[in-house]
Amino acid sequence: MRRGILVVGMVSIFAGATALCTLRLVWADAAPPPIDYTKMAPADLIKNTPKGKLVNPYKDTQADVVAEGGKFLQTYSCSGCHGGGGGGGMCPPLTNDIWIYGGDDDTLFRLVVLGSDEFQKLGYTRIGRENVVGPMPPFGTIIKNADDLWKILAFVRSKYSGDPAYKFGAPPEAP
Ligand code: HEC
Repeated sequence: MRRGILVVGMVSIFAGATALCTLRLVWADAAPPPIDYTKMAPADLIKNTPKGKLVNPYKDTQADVVAEGGKFLQTYSCSGCHGGGGGGGMCPPLTNDIWIYGGDDDTLFRLVVLGSDEFQKLGYTRIGRENVVGPMPPFGTIIKNADDLWKILAFVRSKYSGDPAYKFGAPPEAP
């Protein structure tokens, strides 16, 4: 009789623990709160995000965002090298149909933060050829927050002028 009560007691403790665990799992599965990119240094964002997972929260069809990004191109003096509208100057254009290391959000964001020397050390290689070849300086500590850089990149993408299939770099492989 005693033994029976003990077993029942243990079973209910076990059930309780299982329920708690399930609850924890449900919590872990819930979507994380959205990142406030205005409060996030670009260098921290790339450190805390696995390679390939950075996605621009803005679309290049958001005219206000694109306009702001175009202004940042001047204020952060990207235009000194890449030309006023990003169309090229001393350095390669950002607006043509060539993506030097790849055209996805993740690659572009990391390139601007790290600069091309550091980028190549991580194993990235030039897959697109521009007429001008030179180093892109690291801007990770100059650009105030990740939000500013996302807006710049929305501007860059909005000016893309090549085959739409390559707007985000190499198109997905045919199934
Ligand atoms: C000192 C000149 C210079 C400045 C300033 C500069 N860049 Fe660059 N940028 C380059 C060069 C050179 C390359 C090509 C790098 C290579 O070939 O490895 C490049 C490449 C790039 C690319 C890749 C382009 C492509 O077609 O794939 C992007 C995007 C870019 N820069 C964005 C920026 C942004 C945004 C800023 C300002 C925050 C900026 N750059 C400031 C020189 C510069």
